[in-house]
Amino acid sequence: MVRLGDRVVVEHPTFPPLLDLLEQIGVDVIGVPMDEEGIETDALRGALEQSPSALFLQPRAQNPTGVTMSARRAADIASTIRSSAVASSITIIEDDHAGDIASGDLHSIGRHLPERTVHIRSYSKSHGPDLRLAAVGGAGDVISRAANRRLLGPGWSSRILQAVLLELLDDRSTLDALARSREAYAQRRRTVVEVLRRHHVRTTGTDGINLWVHVADERSALMALAAQGIGAAPGEPFMVLEHPDALRVTVGLLGSNTDIVGVAEAIASAAISSGEARRGQR
Ligand SMILES: Cc1ncc(COP(=O)(O)O)c(C=O)c1O
Repeated sequence: MVRLGDRVVVEHPTFPPLLDLLEQIGVDVIGVPMDEEGIETDALRGALEQSPSALFLQPRAQNPTGVTMSARRAADIASTIRSSAVASSITIIEDDHAGDIASGDLHSIGRHLPERTVHIRSYSKSHGPDLRLAAVGGAGDVISRAANRRLLGPGWSSRILQAVLLELLDDRSTLDALARSREAYAQRRRTVVEVLRRHHVRTTGTDGINLWVHVADERSALMALAAQGIGAAPGEPFMVLEHPDALRVTVGLLGSNTDIVGVAEAIASAAISSGEARRGQR
């Protein structure tokens, strides 16, 4: 589906392993900026003029921005694609990596362009990464090519684990535990966002375990946090286009034994004072 020399459209910023994979295949990546509803359609229109073969999207709890695509944006993206020259050739790959830990509703482009969309729902975050299972559905030709490729060698998904997942998907106590986890993640996110907002530190999105925090200087913010035992991911590997400095903080890891407000205060102070450090160096 995606071959050496192809162009593909990705969200900016996005999940670094996707960028690494695309680089390995040897495709040219076109980044499209995001706002609070998903990728921006004006920029998408320009990207589609470069004849990409695929568009990669995360419909919910986008990693790193935490943005969940709105119903309106999904419809606008679909109509932008429909009126482009690649309307009958592009494949849209939706990576619903957060699955049931996302609080927002899923709005799939597949609702509008079923024949062009492949939807992947991972169960790693909701049921455990060691299951190594995701469900995939959508455009038939892409699915059968992927299924055929997986039949070669020991690449298929264990049927025993599939049966376990099937049980869990219907199991009342698992569903209750999932609902509690979803709410706990959302609460941790709200707490951190609230503290950062009070300090006028910008964050994006509303959903999932990741928070994209705008900082004055990425390196010194990371170092200031590391000195206090707080890990965060540097923003740079997520960037496809130019972007102000940022960090990705995984609020999902701030468990009940953590002083969440204290950690959030430390993030706010690193985000702000890193700028003072940089100004001091000039
Ligand atoms: C955006 C995104 N896609 C894919 C994955 C990998 O998911 P899986 O465990 O299903 O391979 C992750 C894991 O964090 C992710 O954040």
